[in-house]
Amino acid sequence: MKLIIAENYDEMSRAGAKIMLEVVKGNPYAVLGLATGTTPLGLYAYMIADHEKYGTSYAHVRTVNLDEYKGLPKTHEQSYAYFMRKNLFDGLDIDPENTNIENGMAEDEAKECARYDELLERFPRDIQLLGLGSNGHIAFNEPNTPFGSGTHVVTLAESTVKDNARLFDDISEVPRKAFTMGIRQIMQAKKILILASGANKADAVRKMVKGEVTESVPASVLQLHPDCILIADQEAAANL
Ligand code: F6R
Repeated sequence: MKLIIAENYDEMSRAGAKIMLEVVKGNPYAVLGLATGTTPLGLYAYMIADHEKYGTSYAHVRTVNLDEYKGLPKTHEQSYAYFMRKNLFDGLDIDPENTNIENGMAEDEAKECARYDELLERFPRDIQLLGLGSNGHIAFNEPNTPFGSGTHVVTLAESTVKDNARLFDDISEVPRKAFTMGIRQIMQAKKILILASGANKADAVRKMVKGEVTESVPASVLQLHPDCILIADQEAAANL
C-alpha cells in the first residue's frame, strides 16, 4: 500500500482529487467507484471546481457507488443517492443514467444484490474511492465480513450507527440495514484510493496499514491489493 501523509483535510482532498482526475482525463470512458460520507466531500468539491474551470467532461464516465441504506428512497435527504447528486453529480456534466447505486427500496434483497453483482461485472472499475470506518470497515463491510463477499445486505454495527447519527436529527432515524458492495468486488478495482481524516480514524489506520490481514479488520485486506494508495491527514496518520 502506498502511503501519502497530508498536512490536513484540505491537502488530503486536493491530493485525492488529483488522482481521480488523472483517471478521468486519461480515459473519458472511465468507470469510477465512489463513496459517500464526510471524508470525500472535499475531494468532490475539487472535482467540481476542476470541471468548472477546465471543462473536464464526465459525459461518458460511469459511476458505481459502494452502498445505500435499506428503506430510504433515492429522494430521501439522507439516502446516499441524494448525497451523490447533491455533492457531486449535479456539479458535473454526468448523465444520471450512467450513475449507479443499490436501490434501498428493493423488496427482493437477493434480486437486488444479484443485479448489482452483474452490473459490477459489466463495468469493471478503473478506480475505487473509499473512506474508512472508525472500526476498520470499508463500504458497509463490517468486521468479520468474509473477504470473498459480493453485494449483500448488512446490519450496521452499533459503532457505525453512532458514527452516522450526526447526519440525522436523531439516532433512532439512522437505518439499521444497508446494501453494500462486497470486499471481493472492492478488491477487483484496478486501482484503490482510500482517504482517512481525523483523530477518530487513527486506530483503524494503524490496524489497516500495520496490522495483520484479518477479516476482523476489513480494511486490512487492502494490503493485498497491487495498486492501493492511502492518503491520510496528520491526525489520522498519528499512530503509524
Ligand atoms: C460510505 C461508506 C463508508 C464510509 C465510512 C467513513 O459510502 O462506504 O464506509 O466511507 O463509514 O465515513 P466518513 O467519511 O463519514 O467518516
